[in-house]
Amino acid sequence: MLLTELLPPTAEGLGHAARHLAEGRLVAFPTETVYGLGGDARDDRAVASIFAAKGRPAFNPLIVHVPDMAAAARLAVFSDPALRLAAAFWPGALTLVLPMRDDSGLSPLVSAGLPSVAIRMPAHPVAVALLHSFGGPVAAPSANPSGRISPTRAEHVLDGLAGRIAAVLDGGACPVGVESTIIGLEPRPTLLRPGGIPVEAIEECLGVRLAAPDPAPLRPNAPGQLSSHYAPSAAVMLEVTAPRPDDVWIGFGSRTGTEGLNLSPSGDLVEAAANLFHYLREADRCAGSGGRIAVAPIPEKGLGRAINDRLRRAAAPR
Ligand code: TXA
Ligand code: MG
Repeated sequence: MLLTELLPPTAEGLGHAARHLAEGRLVAFPTETVYGLGGDARDDRAVASIFAAKGRPAFNPLIVHVPDMAAAARLAVFSDPALRLAAAFWPGALTLVLPMRDDSGLSPLVSAGLPSVAIRMPAHPVAVALLHSFGGPVAAPSANPSGRISPTRAEHVLDGLAGRIAAVLDGGACPVGVESTIIGLEPRPTLLRPGGIPVEAIEECLGVRLAAPDPAPLRPNAPGQLSSHYAPSAAVMLEVTAPRPDDVWIGFGSRTGTEGLNLSPSGDLVEAAANLFHYLREADRCAGSGGRIAVAPIPEKGLGRAINDRLRRAAAPR
């Protein structure tokens, strides 16, 4: 059992967090999407301890975070479409799966032995400062126990991982609120996970429609792609327009929801994404394990696709 430190995002807190990383320990840090559970991506033991802290059942590939294009280019080979996406959306809520360089120096555990690597350049100032201060690539899945709701505040991280990691850098609430969009480019541009950058924007940038991923056996067996994930303890029902009296109702737009639980009264999908995981946690707390969370319909466009993807996983049979 570790004493997990809650660090402020000051020069001192950041220096302390960077030292933990340099010494092979784990630090949770804010990104614009969700909090990540970071470890040195070159250090086998650090990467293995990420899986252990999350209780991940298997060594699934992780996203490697870098502060700039020079650091990204040391890890992976960028094709023209990859460069175009990086120029348009980095830093930001986009992850690119690219061919890994032979001399990347990454722990093979990071990519679960695959010849590719998932890379992201986050925009959150605390993440950027930590990456600069540490000076190496940081592997980071979402900072929650495997299969649970992703954290969008430092206290969510502590709820799930206190005692299992060295520290949490507190950067307040994550502005985007859902994980990054993951795009594979080989052999063709493919949507591996909807997320914080809308599919429509990526397709416009590339000038092509994104392919759907290959069927399951060809894909890495990754938790974000398992059906039951982001799971509250209460049961979750989707597209509910007329909740039962004892439901905890998460609203959207004119479907008001239980008091204080409307993802966006004005129907704004960006605001809804930012509130999603916090409201799921709140609803779960109110409903209790025998109760039911009902969620109003969310339009399947823009960030609505990522929201509905996460909600379907939260509602999936377990
Ligand atoms: O917003 C985010 O992406 C957050 C923050 C912390 O950056 N991170 C995150 O990481 O969501 P994680 O570990 O929960 O998601 C990693 C996903 C896997 O589920 C898998 O689908 C994909 O990235 N992935 C990683 N490496 C891959 C690879 N080489 N090939 C295909 N997919 C890969
Ligand atoms: Mg996750």
